[in-house]
Amino acid sequence: MSQFSGASDVPDMGRRQFMNLLTFGTITGVAAGALYPVVKYFIPPSSGSSGGGVTAKDALGNDVIVSEFIAGHNPGDRTLAQGLKGDPTYMVITEDKTLANYGINAVCTHLGCVVPWNASEDKFMCPCHGSQYNGEGKVVRGPAPLSLALAKATVTDNDKLVFSPWTETDFRTNEAPWWA
Ligand code: FES
Repeated sequence: MSQFSGASDVPDMGRRQFMNLLTFGTITGVAAGALYPVVKYFIPPSSGSSGGGVTAKDALGNDVIVSEFIAGHNPGDRTLAQGLKGDPTYMVITEDKTLANYGINAVCTHLGCVVPWNASEDKFMCPCHGSQYNGEGKVVRGPAPLSLALAKATVTDNDKLVFSPWTETDFRTNEAPWWA
């Protein structure tokens, strides 16, 4: 008798374990979700090589492959990628055809339009109210009150680009970063 009941218990056990697993998964999922902001708060953005960073994505949502990107662009090019918090961020090819170690956040500091690069003027020129920024994103004409924000741009060992928060002095103004 016990043999039979033992045998018939097997599927039940299996189902119970499965249900337990589901419940456990749900609870830990919820807990992890609730904890995430707390954990994130306690991890300093500079910890680790890509702490607080995101892998730059191109317009199609693919990871930017840095060697290919450089090969396909000219010195001085500024090209949009998806950066921190999904913000459109320019990757900058320097005059010696390397990638600059900073990205320029394209969100206008006036009212938030995405500012296009104007290669012939050598400036970022906002179409909304006429603000202008130089090639490094420093504001040169209002009404924008501030320069475009910077992000740190780091090339990884596997040829990708990671944007992370720029917390150092703003090299364009020698001031603390207003966006940090
Ligand atoms: Fe760019 Fe107003 S939003 S100038």
